[in-house]
Amino acid sequence: MDPFISKVAVVTGGSRGIGYNVAKELVARGARVVIGDILDKQGEAAIKEFNDRAGKKVAAYIHTDVTKYKDLLALFSLAEKIFGCVDIAVLNAGVTGMGAGGIFTPLDDEKDMSIHDINMGGVIKGNKVALLYMAKHGKGGAIVNTASMAGVTPANFIAAYAASKHAVVGWTRSLGHLKHVCNVRVNAVCPAVCATDINNYVDHQSTSDFLNSSPKVSMEIVVQTFIRCIEDSRLSGDILLALPDGTHIQPKYNPPASSVSKEFLDKLPQIRQDGNKFAKEALAQAIKDSKL
Ligand SMILES: NC(=O)c1ccc[n+]([C@@H]2O[C@H](COP(=O)([O-])OP(=O)(O)OC[C@H]3O[C@@H](n4cnc5c(N)ncnc54)[C@H](O)[C@@H]3O)[C@@H](O)[C@H]2O)c1
Repeated sequence: MDPFISKVAVVTGGSRGIGYNVAKELVARGARVVIGDILDKQGEAAIKEFNDRAGKKVAAYIHTDVTKYKDLLALFSLAEKIFGCVDIAVLNAGVTGMGAGGIFTPLDDEKDMSIHDINMGGVIKGNKVALLYMAKHGKGGAIVNTASMAGVTPANFIAAYAASKHAVVGWTRSLGHLKHVCNVRVNAVCPAVCATDINNYVDHQSTSDFLNSSPKVSMEIVVQTFIRCIEDSRLSGDILLALPDGTHIQPKYNPPASSVSKEFLDKLPQIRQDGNKFAKEALAQAIKDSKL
């Protein structure tokens, strides 16, 4: 039996592009999906298409601004209300940061932070809400965050975008231990350039030239990389690159020799064990406090 049958997934930024295609594949594999986005017309059209094809209710949509906890809570709550639980969360909404993507733009407090609120904040807030919904039933789950190749490489004219995606990579790598705390695995996908609408919204001709000239990854490879993150129980805190020639798993970070000592390495297993014990207690308290 396909492991996705009877699973419930939440997908942000699923009204179009990568999120839409991931949602479509999840439904095709037997999962039920709730999409949260700010593009309501496209989101409603997407779920109508999924429900019509299935001949039953397999998808729902709710207006969700990923920068707002209130909206994220409503999104996960809807999934639980209609389909019973949340097993998979894809935190995918993102923007390039038009008008505030690089270092030469006006000194504007709000505009400069808006890209980080969406790309980084949407992932961090979305992961915190997802964790509560997954852990409260004690079943665990799989969280997949959308980063970018710009999360592991420089990107001169969209430096703010690169910073926000590096943050998604750092955040995801730092959550690998949750597998041992509550059986929730958090991983991230870094797509290379993929032909979607997002690439039409850039400030600088050099960025357009870069994107247009870059080898493209197919949508199929991008989607399969998300599926791999969900299916492969060995992955936790991992970063998967979706490249034109397929999926590549980034090697785990190895600290430089001088930053660790034998004494430190000897103590590390105990520090990790104590850390996981603390995390279990903190999570139990967070679930209690959330009143979900
Ligand atoms: N297409 C690429 O080349 C590429 C490469 C690497 C990473 N990515 C990342 O993939 C993700 C999906 O992008 P895409 O290529 O499908 O582009 P897209 O523009 O088609 O999709 C992005 C979606 O996010 C939604 N969104 C934007 N702000 C939101 C908000 N505040 N709240 C809720 N939803 C919001 C949009 O409405 C849209 O539906 C993004 O995180 C993007 O950074 C894309």
